[in-house]
Amino acid sequence: MNSTDLRTPAIRPRSARDRDARAVANAGEPTVEFADRVPYDAYVHASTLHSLQQTLSTDPGEMSFLMISQIMELYFGLTCFELREAKRLLREDEVWQALAPLRRAACHLDGLNAAWRGLRWMTPAEFNRFRDQLGEGSGFQSAMYRHLEFLLGLKTASMIRPFRRQPDIYRPLADDLHAPSLWDDAVALLARRGHDIPAELLERDFSTEHEPHPAVEAAWVEVYHDRGPDNHLRLLGDALADIAENFGDWRYEHLKAVKRSMGAKVGSGGSAGVTWLQRSMARDVFPELWSARTFM
Ligand code: HEM
Repeated sequence: MNSTDLRTPAIRPRSARDRDARAVANAGEPTVEFADRVPYDAYVHASTLHSLQQTLSTDPGEMSFLMISQIMELYFGLTCFELREAKRLLREDEVWQALAPLRRAACHLDGLNAAWRGLRWMTPAEFNRFRDQLGEGSGFQSAMYRHLEFLLGLKTASMIRPFRRQPDIYRPLADDLHAPSLWDDAVALLARRGHDIPAELLERDFSTEHEPHPAVEAAWVEVYHDRGPDNHLRLLGDALADIAENFGDWRYEHLKAVKRSMGAKVGSGGSAGVTWLQRSMARDVFPELWSARTFM
């Protein structure tokens, strides 16, 4: 959203001088009179956010399940936002500038992962009290999580099938599926910086998952060989490693939460549950960034 969108009657820009004058007039107390809607709500839409918890059961435990899912959705969206910005900058060869959104993305993933704590109380008996009411609803059907996976380079075309009857969700997902991932953009950058990357990796079908390649691995070994302070590619490698690790932590925390709250039962989304999740987790994010470490 840009600044002009914020110029509702409730929110008008204020300078530092305006704020000083207001604080003097208020004798140091916060403002409590507004001509219109409270500016905080006009900006944060807190009242809208707090109207979105439509539980399906009367069980009090369901509220934390629902809200923590919503909090995680917001974090998925925020992380995608940062990764898109980083991709844009990497494509413009602005490696140093791209580090800021990548570091923010790693921080948001930390916040996302901390949210799992709010579900640690849930035993299978407690989950069972509201589970039936969720029907076939499963996090597996999270479109934003799929955007995040596609941006990270985890591409499985069948993952967009559930959304076929919702074109407004399906189309942007199909776009991300077919677009180069953050990892593809990093590999293209390595090529532009003189690393020996085969053309087939730069002009591939981006809707399929990148296959780990020895040339990419060798390029990262070279990048990490240079310990100089101006080696921005090494900083990029570190920032990407943080993101991959934190995303891996989310997957592992999810698996632990599943084991804790339903054991090895089948999933609400129709899968085998834990065994399906373990297979899904086996796909590496930024694979050569890890395999290269064997040769450093
Ligand atoms: C402790 C409560 C939870 C349980 C028991 C659980 C269970 C499962 C299961 C069994 C699956 C596999 C698909 C299926 O058959 O449903 C799954 C997938 C998934 N769940 Fe959860 N889940 C829980 C909490 C959450 C939360 C809070 C989120 C956040 C939005 C979430 C997001 C996901 C995502 C994104 C997938 C797909 C993972 C992948 O594709 O690898 N889950 N979940």
